[in-house]
Formats: sequence, structure tokens, C-alpha cells
Amino acid sequence: MPKHTFILNGQRVQVDVEDSVRLLWVLRDVLGVKGPKYGCGLDVCKACTSHINGKAFNPCSVRVDAIEPTDEITTIEGLPATVGRDLHPMQEAWLEMDVPQCGYCQPGQIMAAVAVVRRAREEGRDVTEADLDGIRNICRCGTYHRIRDAIAAGAAGM
Ligand code: FES
Ligand code: FES
Repeated sequence: MPKHTFILNGQRVQVDVEDSVRLLWVLRDVLGVKGPKYGCGLDVCKACTSHINGKAFNPCSVRVDAIEPTDEITTIEGLPATVGRDLHPMQEAWLEMDVPQCGYCQPGQIMAAVAVVRRAREEGRDVTEADLDGIRNICRCGTYHRIRDAIAAGAAGM
């Protein structure tokens, strides 16, 4: 089978899988990285949200052969290391606000939140209500109000 290599949470990894396998299955089933959750597999629910080169993306909808050797994939497991701490400020805010209910969507919510704050900062501005409205991650438990409060608190720490 073809070999594919990329950087995952700061470490180079190599996998031996068919070109057409979607990255989410490579992460979860081949590499054992279970933070990105499987919900729809169709780029709709956003439960698998992770980062590629610092931007949010959904690995359920990206073939492994579309990933370049230089691409840096970050999952919730690798998020704290991006700021050199045990927990990222967004994760701390999540704990302070007691955001999760069942928890299933929450890794994706946090990764989406961090990406939104980063993008706003790159554009030289703060996160707006419109930014928060643009987050499409579904939460079946309806924790949306706490998520919005936590993003504001987490952004303050970033
Ligand atoms: S599992 Fe990736 S968007 Fe739903
Ligand atoms: S906390 Fe249960 S789906 Fe979001």
C-alpha cells in the first residue's frame, strides 16, 4: 500500500494506507488519535474539526493523499503544545464555564474556536458575534450559549 507522511501534533508520522482513505480514519484507526470525533463523515457536523497548518479543517472529508509531507496537522491532543502549556487557554475557559454536557462535540468546538480567534487576530481585530455565528459545529446537547461565553473568555487568554 502507498505510504503517506505528515506532521501530527509536532511529530512526523508515516502510514501505509490506500490513497483514498480519509484522514479522519487514518488519525483514529491507524494512529490511535481519537480526539477528532466521527459524526457524519460528510463535512457537516464538524465533530472532527482539527487544524491543518493552523487553520480549521475537517479530516473526515480529506483524502490522505491530499496531505503534503510538510503539512502540520493538529488535533485537540496537540493543542496545548502549540502554546507550550498543559492546557490551551481555550481549554481552560471551557473548564471554567463547565461547557460540555455529553462532551462528544467538544474537541471539535474547541478547535473551531481557536481557529476563529486566530483568524480574527491575524486580521487585526477581535472576535465578533458574526464570527461566532459562523461556527457551524453541531452540539446535540445544545451547549451553544456556554460555548459562546467560553470563546470570549478563551480569546482573552490567547
Ligand atoms: S465527522 Fe467530520 S464533519 Fe462530521
Ligand atoms: S456536548 Fe453533547 S453533543 Fe455537544
